[in-house]
Amino acid sequence: MNRKSLHTLLLATLVIMLFTGCPKPALVDDIATLRDAGDYHGKWIGAAVDPSKFAESAYDTTLKTEFSMVVAENVMKMDTLQPNKDSFNFTPGDSIVAYATANTMALRGHALLWHSQLPTWIKSEPYANLPDLLLTHIDTVLTHYKGKMHSWDVVNEVVMDDGSGLRNNNEDIATSNYSIWADSATDDSLITEAFYKARTADPDAILIINDYSNETMGNAKADKLYSLVAGWINDGVPIDGVGFQLHLMEKYTPDYAAIRANINRYIALKPGFEVHFTEIDVRIEEPATEAKLANQAAIYSHLMDIALDYPEVTVYITWGVTDKYSWIPGFFTGYGSALIFDDLYEPKPAHDALLDMLQ
Ligand code: G3I
Repeated sequence: MNRKSLHTLLLATLVIMLFTGCPKPALVDDIATLRDAGDYHGKWIGAAVDPSKFAESAYDTTLKTEFSMVVAENVMKMDTLQPNKDSFNFTPGDSIVAYATANTMALRGHALLWHSQLPTWIKSEPYANLPDLLLTHIDTVLTHYKGKMHSWDVVNEVVMDDGSGLRNNNEDIATSNYSIWADSATDDSLITEAFYKARTADPDAILIINDYSNETMGNAKADKLYSLVAGWINDGVPIDGVGFQLHLMEKYTPDYAAIRANINRYIALKPGFEVHFTEIDVRIEEPATEAKLANQAAIYSHLMDIALDYPEVTVYITWGVTDKYSWIPGFFTGYGSALIFDDLYEPKPAHDALLDMLQ
């Protein structure tokens, strides 16, 4: 439901209640957490999590109070799930499922076909063995988690950064263009097979293709991914939605109109096609001044504004709970403060702007 229809519905409900003498509902302004405000609008508010932090009281309280969905930041990747050939380790992933169940949260799975965080053993397998190995991995993992997952990132980051084709094993292994999962820049056979296998293994999970720098229409990589997905959908490949990771920088204002245009063309592909905002963070070049935090807050809330305008945007996930454990400082020297809770779990202006937007 869009905001206009929601407002009309609320108004009608209030008028009926006035005349029937029913107690008035809590106004959305009274909702104090992102989780409750997201529920009100039918949006999942998620966080990427590390189960080894669940025992930390502030982590636990912030997570279960403010978020309604969790995704494993690392422990459902292939290196953790299948560290040795045919030997699966579900222990850390299962602890996320247990946490979500105990706190009535939804779960996303991340990630099945991905060129990174692979176990060492698979890198020495000949290409001819990879289809069976990947499909067995997908089948085993989705069967294990069947009925528990809202959605899966079945395919992650397969398009080269310049949009010229698919990452593949003919590229220089030292570059980000390299992937074991394709034999050429146009070889999409494992991608499509991955989706078919995932659908069979867990028919109820929403199957997503996820990427970064794919959110703005007109960007070469975004346009390439869109045209590939459009072709696959046309061929009947069971893809239910696209994930925009949205690892952004505070100093660059996103092109919101181009993001909306991109969403428009994706949701026109087939009825029910979803767009998930899967890994949002907005990194700041240190020091994080008040002005930079305000810019960051504006970016987070603009993205929520877009999500609220589209019923098809069902998921809004931040890539972590707290700046204390964010991946950003370790990967981008001089950058940090990318999330909506600070190192001490205090809500930042971005959190408050999100809550305002939802209210
Ligand atoms: O588990 C080992 C640990 O045994 C070892 O002692 C330690 C020493 O460095 O490293 C640990 O592994 C780290 C792992 O995170 C788990 O903490 C890796 O070094 C580190 O590289 C890895 O980083 C993750 C990164 O993916 C790897 O590509 C980040 O936490 C994670 O946030 C990030 O997430 C990705 C998404 O999956 C896909 N989209 C981009 C996003 C950001 O890169």
